[in-house]
Amino acid sequence: MKNFTFSNPTKILFGTDAEKHAGEEVKIYASKVLLCYGSGSVVASGLLDRVRSSLREQGIESVELSGIQPNPRLSLVKQGIAVCREKGIDFILAVGGGSVIDTAKAIAVGVPYSGDVWDFYEYTATPTEALGVGVVLTIPAAGSESSNSTVISNMDLQLKRGLTTELVRPRFALMNPVLTYTLPPYQTACGAADIMAHIMERYFTNVRSVDFTDQLCEAGLRVIINNIPRVLANPEDYDARAEIMWTGAVAHNNLFDTGREGDWASHGIEHEISAIYDVAHGAGLAVVFPAWMRHVWRHDVARFAQFATRVWGVEMDYFNPERTALEGINRLEAFFQSIGLPVRLSQMNVPSDRIDEMASKATVKGGGAIGNFVKLDSDAIAAILNSAI
Ligand code: NZQ
Ligand code: ZN
Repeated sequence: MKNFTFSNPTKILFGTDAEKHAGEEVKIYASKVLLCYGSGSVVASGLLDRVRSSLREQGIESVELSGIQPNPRLSLVKQGIAVCREKGIDFILAVGGGSVIDTAKAIAVGVPYSGDVWDFYEYTATPTEALGVGVVLTIPAAGSESSNSTVISNMDLQLKRGLTTELVRPRFALMNPVLTYTLPPYQTACGAADIMAHIMERYFTNVRSVDFTDQLCEAGLRVIINNIPRVLANPEDYDARAEIMWTGAVAHNNLFDTGREGDWASHGIEHEISAIYDVAHGAGLAVVFPAWMRHVWRHDVARFAQFATRVWGVEMDYFNPERTALEGINRLEAFFQSIGLPVRLSQMNVPSDRIDEMASKATVKGGGAIGNFVKLDSDAIAAILNSAI
């Protein structure tokens, strides 16, 4: 096990009516807030009105920034920065999913910075201060509600880039599983793929003697595998929604990577797909992850066999562990298909003509290679994408 520091100060209020605490939680930090949300689900569900009332009850003034889209745009981030400066706002409340939260985080680091906020995503500048961010979560997926990262799309450059800094970890996250009842099945499934990907990025490691976190990862995966079919059959199954929501947060709050080193190549590859084709992040991962696995499994057959037996219940074939390892990958892919996700680029209408471009862009920040479990250069990434056409 590697040495590690673990600190996740995000305060979680979990359960029915959690959103009613928005006002009192914001009041700890500010009396004026930028209230961010997406393209309408929170209006239709009545959630936004409940959050507004909670803020009003505590005497908190709010200015709103709406219309945040999936694969959140840099242009709206810049609008939010201008609004905060103009109105003297120093706290941001995100009501939504990863896209809304990541926009709030980007605004938070952008407001005190005199340069272009995109500098942080290009790593040509490092943020040193940020406004506070709070969250009312509506979709378990990205884990941004208690993560230290934000991912933003620059449509002009067709780039999607992440920034990781403790400055953006939310002060609090209000998590009410009932708010996820209105999720369309496809968004529920995309969320599942993202949660599983966050766990699997950490699971496939070269670090030895990490039994505890191995088993946490395996448990997290099993919980998602068992509960997603339940909520697809009955969207108002509170207990199943709650299991998924909590697993989604912990999957990406850095607990599961304590003492180990994650891989993260699949995320890097997927971001290049969504940067150009604007696909849902979770759907892109459902395509990339099994393809990545089929490219790298020989690197550690025993680990893939462990994944197959412990997560998917595949019987260990001691005479042919390779068969066991491959069966685990097949089960993962079949699971994604069974919950309505694509497993091929063509199923997302992603053509093959820009694969080399995506492969080369994916390695720019890694100095020519990405991934820790297995290092991938642009040829390897192109091979993975070509295998997923
Ligand atoms: O915009 P509205 O109308 O709210 O609709 C949203 C959106 O269309 C809808 N939705 C959300 N909650 C709903 C709902 N519809 C009905 N009922 C509800 N309760 O779902 C759609 C997707 O929302 P989005 O916020 O994009 O989803 P998600 O949470 O999956 O976030 C994806 C983004 O997070 C980034 C991804 O790259 C992607 O841009 N990630 C952020 C990470 C982080 N900051 O730590 C890590 C992840 O790996 C990921 O990269
Ligand atoms: Zn992700």
